[in-house]
Amino acid sequence: MDNIVEAAREYIAGLFRGNAGGHDAAHTLRVYHSAILIAEKEKSGDPETVALAALLHDADDHKLFHTENNRNARSFLASHGVDAEKTERIIAAVNSVSFSRNRGKRPYTIEGKIVQDADRLDAIGAVGIARTFAYGGEHGRGPDDSIAHFHEKLLLLKDEMNTDTAKAMAEERHAFMLAFLKEYARETGG
Ligand code: NI
Repeated sequence: MDNIVEAAREYIAGLFRGNAGGHDAAHTLRVYHSAILIAEKEKSGDPETVALAALLHDADDHKLFHTENNRNARSFLASHGVDAEKTERIIAAVNSVSFSRNRGKRPYTIEGKIVQDADRLDAIGAVGIARTFAYGGEHGRGPDDSIAHFHEKLLLLKDEMNTDTAKAMAEERHAFMLAFLKEYARETGG
């Protein structure tokens, strides 16, 4: 398992080179580490499927890459000899991650649930705050505009977690965001 996981880490480092926004290699690595942690604590999911789905979950992100049918992820898996059944399981998990495409829908595999949780955890807490302002700045939005994004999306995420482990992690990160918003409002007189 270690070889292909290591190869996937190198693959995404190359793929995301030059992308400094919210979806970069560092985001993917955080999702990978959280996904592994959740799988271990939940004692469920095939570890290699979880690891590869987490590492490849943004490899075909439509905001960054103009690929269809998960071409980047599939070509990586094919070039490393992953069989058809496992490939489909990994791709199913990858495709359950997108927030906009999957709002309100639950992934139907445990690996999909775990990787979706890990990706959503990375959108909240201290990292979520940092990513929100980085993304807003990149798109010409000031701090007050980015604050709206917390209410439209980020504060809803803790109730969308699939696993108990992610729910507990999300509660802490949620509380941190609320404290941040309260202080921001206080300092801005809002
Ligand atoms: Ni992601």
